[in-house]
Amino acid sequence: MKQGLFITFEGGDGSGKSTQINRLGQYLQDAGYHVLLTREPGGTAISEQIRGILLDPENGEMAPMTECMLYAAARSQLVSQVIRPALEEGTIVICDRFLDSSIAYQAYGRGLGSAVEEINGYGIDGCMPDLTIYLRIDPKAGHSRISGRDQDRIESEPDAFHERVLQGYDSLYEKYPERILCLDAGQSIEKIAEIIREEVQERIRRRQP
Ligand code: TMP
Repeated sequence: MKQGLFITFEGGDGSGKSTQINRLGQYLQDAGYHVLLTREPGGTAISEQIRGILLDPENGEMAPMTECMLYAAARSQLVSQVIRPALEEGTIVICDRFLDSSIAYQAYGRGLGSAVEEINGYGIDGCMPDLTIYLRIDPKAGHSRISGRDQDRIESEPDAFHERVLQGYDSLYEKYPERILCLDAGQSIEKIAEIIREEVQERIRRRQP
């Protein structure tokens, strides 16, 4: 059976993920690979509808566990409808955020702890990234990068929340140093893109029989 490569991008708001995802996607496509870019929450019609509920600033009364389950539901749909079939076809899947976001934002940010991983386990069913690019940014610096646009419900959480999210990401990196590549998001766009390209090329080489 063919087996693709599953790459995720993680980091606080304003860490520059979208720019790097587009660059990597373009680079891999130009090199002749089948590439699929997707995002969380979203990436399917159902998951995009859930995204609308999750990020709507009008939904301020949402309970933390409701939030956690909606992210897990959006993810479950994306895995079964898009990610798993694409990987089985041998595609390189690049996803903007995945389970680590729920660990950082819901387990650490909201304080839901180990329940988050357990709940997500049902929908993911072992479909975990081969490589995760973690763009690390100080929450204040990230916030000032996105201050020019309207903030969604999560982005407009207070600084203390985003500090806990950062701690969450840092502990994930400590726990999974093989899977997660941590990069200082303050470096130039070109420098970050180059390091990511090299790491991905290495992972592709390792996959070849
Ligand atoms: P985006 O701004 O990167 O598109 O992500 C939407 C927001 O949702 C972002 O502030 C992070 C948040 N988020 C969670 O809180 N938990 C999750 O599991 C995911 C995927 C995103």
